[in-house]
Amino acid sequence: MYFHLIGNFNTSAPVDQADEDVTDFMNAANETLLAKGAPLGKGARILDWRIEGNKIHIEIDSDRYVRAHDAILRLKKPLAALLGKKHRIGIRGIEIESFVARIPSDNPVRATNIPYVSKIEFDCGEISITMEIDESQIQNKIPDRIITLIEDKIAAQEYGGKEEHWNLLWESAEKPILNNDDPTTELLDRNWIRHGAARGQWIHGPEITRIFRAFESIVKKEVLDFLGYQEMIFPKLVSWDVWKKSGHAKGVYPEIYYVCPPKTRDPEYWEEVSDYYKVTHEVPIKLIREKIGDPIGGLCYAQCPPFWPFMQGRTIADETFPVRVFDRSGTSHRYESGGIHGIERVDEFHRVEIVWMGTPEDVVQESERIQERYKYIFEDILELKWRKAWVTPWFMAQEGLTGTAGSEKVGTIDYESLMPYRDGWLEFQNVSVNGDKYPLGFNVKSQSGSELWSGCSGVGLERWASAFFAQKGLDYENWPSEFREIVGELPKGFVFM
Ligand code: SER
Ligand code: ZN
Repeated sequence: MYFHLIGNFNTSAPVDQADEDVTDFMNAANETLLAKGAPLGKGARILDWRIEGNKIHIEIDSDRYVRAHDAILRLKKPLAALLGKKHRIGIRGIEIESFVARIPSDNPVRATNIPYVSKIEFDCGEISITMEIDESQIQNKIPDRIITLIEDKIAAQEYGGKEEHWNLLWESAEKPILNNDDPTTELLDRNWIRHGAARGQWIHGPEITRIFRAFESIVKKEVLDFLGYQEMIFPKLVSWDVWKKSGHAKGVYPEIYYVCPPKTRDPEYWEEVSDYYKVTHEVPIKLIREKIGDPIGGLCYAQCPPFWPFMQGRTIADETFPVRVFDRSGTSHRYESGGIHGIERVDEFHRVEIVWMGTPEDVVQESERIQERYKYIFEDILELKWRKAWVTPWFMAQEGLTGTAGSEKVGTIDYESLMPYRDGWLEFQNVSVNGDKYPLGFNVKSQSGSELWSGCSGVGLERWASAFFAQKGLDYENWPSEFREIVGELPKGFVFM
C-alpha cells in the first residue's frame, strides 16, 4: 500500500522569518514524529518542503504505517507550537492539493460515485485512488474508510464465484418421507393459501393458520417457557438510525421495503390526489411521489434490531439478567428475487424472534440450550429430516459481507430441512451468537461492568410449514401423533365453486 500527498500548511503570516526553525523541524520529523509507532524503516517520509509566503508547502509519502494523511496531521500541532511560541505565527489550516493512495490488486475494482474520490485507475497490479479531501475529511477518517471500502470490494470480487461459507455441524437420521410433491401446489389446490395482492405475499386460510399457531405454541412451550423468556413487542417500522447502528445501513438497500411519510397530513394538500382517483379510477402514482417525503427507513427486516433502542444508552441492573425476550408481533418484509418460490421464499413473512443477552459465556451457553430444545422439537414432535450448518453470521450477510466473524464462538447456525420434491435443502430457521455487536452498537452496559454479548434466533413460520409439508404432506392422518394432538382438529376451511 502506498500513499502520496501534496499539501500546504496555511499560516497567518509569512513564514520566511522562521525558516531556520522550520528547517530543523522538518529535518528531524522523518526520524522522530513520522516514525513513531511504525516498524523500523517504515512509516511516512517528507519528500520535499518549502516556504511560499503564507504557506509551508509539503510533499509526503508513506506505506500503510503512519499513512501520509495522518502524517500531515501529526506535524500540525508541534509545528503550530513552534511557530506560535517563537514567531507569533498561527496555522490557519491544512490544504490538500493532491492525494493518491495505491492498493495492490490483481484486478480492477468496480467502484463508481464514491464520495471524495475523483478517479480510480488500475495499472500494473495496483489500484490508484485519487481523492479530493481537506483537513476535516482526514480528521473524520474519510481516506481510511475509502481504503477499507476498496479493499472490501477487492476481497468480495475475489470471493465472488466461490461457494458461500458453509460447514456441516450435525445431520439427523432419516425420517419417514410421506410426500414428494411441491407443498405450495398442494396448498393452493386445497385452498389453504392464496396469493395476496402484493408481491411475494400470501393470504393464509384457516387450516394453515392453525398450523402456524401450532408451531408457535410448540416454540412457546418447549423453548420460550421452558427457558424463561418474556414476550415483548418490537416496532415494525425501522428507522435509518437503527440500521446505522445494526450495520444494515451498509448493505441492505436492494431488499428493503422503503417507508415514506406524507409531506403533510393537510387534507387540502392531498385533495387533488383523491379527486384524480375519483374521476379516473387510477391512483396517480407520480403525483403521490411528489407529495411524499424521503424514506425514513423501511419495514421490519431482521426483527431484532428495532428492539435495541429499548436498551440504548442504558446500564442494565444485575437483577435483570439473564435477558431473555421474544417478539411475535408482526410481519417481516424483504424484497426477494423474483420467480416462483411458493411459500418457501416470500416478501412478507411471519417469524418468532428470540433475543438474549448476558456475559459471553452465558450467551454461548444459552445458544446451546436453545439448540437442545429445537432438537427435541424437530426430532420428537415434527420428526423431520434436518441438519445444522455453521454459516456466515446473519448480521454480516445482511451487511453484504462474506466469510465468518473474528471469534470462533460468534456466528450463525442455519437449520436446514430436506425438501424431497426438489432434492434440496431449505433454511428454515437460525440460531446466532452475535458477540458484542449489538450491546456495543447501541451502547448498552451491565451494572457489574462485565462484557455484554447477545444472541438471537428467528423461527420462520412459513419456512417451518414448508419444511413440514414437504416431508409429511398435507394429510392430517399421516402427521406424527404428538403434532396432531397439538394441532387439535383441523378447521374446515373454504370450498369454492
Ligand atoms: N435476526 C436474525 C435474522 O434476521 C434472526 O431472525 O436472521
Ligand atoms: Zn435477530
